Amino acid sequence: MSSQPKTLLSGVKPTGRPHIGNYFGAMKQFVDLQAAHKDARKFFMIADYHALNFIQDGAKMHDLIIDLALDYLAIGLDPKQSVIFKQSDVSAHTELAWVFDTITTIPYLERAHAYKDAEAKNKEISVGTFNYPMLMAADILLYDANIVPVGQDQKQHIEYARDTALKFNHIFCGGEKENGGAPLFILPEPLIMKDVATVPGIDGQKMSKSYNNTIPLFATEEEMTKAVMGIVTDSGSGIPKNVYDIHRLFRTEAELAVIYEEHKGKYKALKDALLADLKAFINPLRTRREELAKDKEAVLKILKEGGERARSVAEPKMQEVRKTIGVGLY
Ligand code: TYM
Repeated sequence: MSSQPKTLLSGVKPTGRPHIGNYFGAMKQFVDLQAAHKDARKFFMIADYHALNFIQDGAKMHDLIIDLALDYLAIGLDPKQSVIFKQSDVSAHTELAWVFDTITTIPYLERAHAYKDAEAKNKEISVGTFNYPMLMAADILLYDANIVPVGQDQKQHIEYARDTALKFNHIFCGGEKENGGAPLFILPEPLIMKDVATVPGIDGQKMSKSYNNTIPLFATEEEMTKAVMGIVTDSGSGIPKNVYDIHRLFRTEAELAVIYEEHKGKYKALKDALLADLKAFINPLRTRREELAKDKEAVLKILKEGGERARSVAEPKMQEVRKTIGVGLY
């Protein structure tokens, strides 16, 4: 990381249960950064308007938002230290996304990986999916976030946010403009942990809800057992790569060397060793989440207050944007 974090912001889509890929790739960093950077401003968002591209059932969306808030709290995000909020509570996100849409071209958005993937699957693509990077740019730039902790698959989106900031600054803030030519948006940087940039799923591909290869972060013991026993093992070397690659999340290389030497070729024993580590890690998290889930009102209060705090930062910034583009007259 070349810059010191002054403002950290990240988000997760409420599209279903998070998995250990989301956790090790991104959410764990949220908690670690919260502890390490007491003086930085920290925003952790529930990206519900991004999720609307996938979840088009009101009752389900409602529950998924509360579920993700519980997930955030259970892993250790603390509303006293960080602003935990949902995107739809701050209407400046969608407003700014529109402003960005007007300075963005179709060919540029057509180059987005997420769009190309959807296109490759021959899906009918919604305008929301197409514009996804502009809403995400708005999420980040509204808060002057300089550091955005994410997994590798979001890297291009942060690049889009940087490009969009530059483009806006160039169009509206260059030269003899009213604000003296000072750029309005700062350029965010992704923070991607090298070792866990792409956590593999039980089939060795990237762990992803859409590939059905996940280990849920708050899995029950039965779910953990089913997932681990389902890990695809086809290595002839005595070390099942897919088991090892997940096991790396919980143990040092030195510890793994001992375990994998001792049980070389015994895939069942190696899976059992991974399962034991998973249980030791997940069980306390799941118990904590179950406790928190007993008080839904408290969760709603945290979100509501988080929305107010987020608005108090985003709204003045949006007001500056309106002034800069010339629509803010009073
Ligand atoms: P989402 O909800 O798909 O994923 C949340 C985070 O989990 C990371 N991740 C992974 N990391 C490593 N290995 C994996 N297998 C893996 N799978 C998922 C993702 O990289 C992500 O960091 N567009 C975002 C949400 C978002 C956002 C934002 C993020 C909306 N606005 C502003 C940062 C800033 C997304 O869909 O993440």
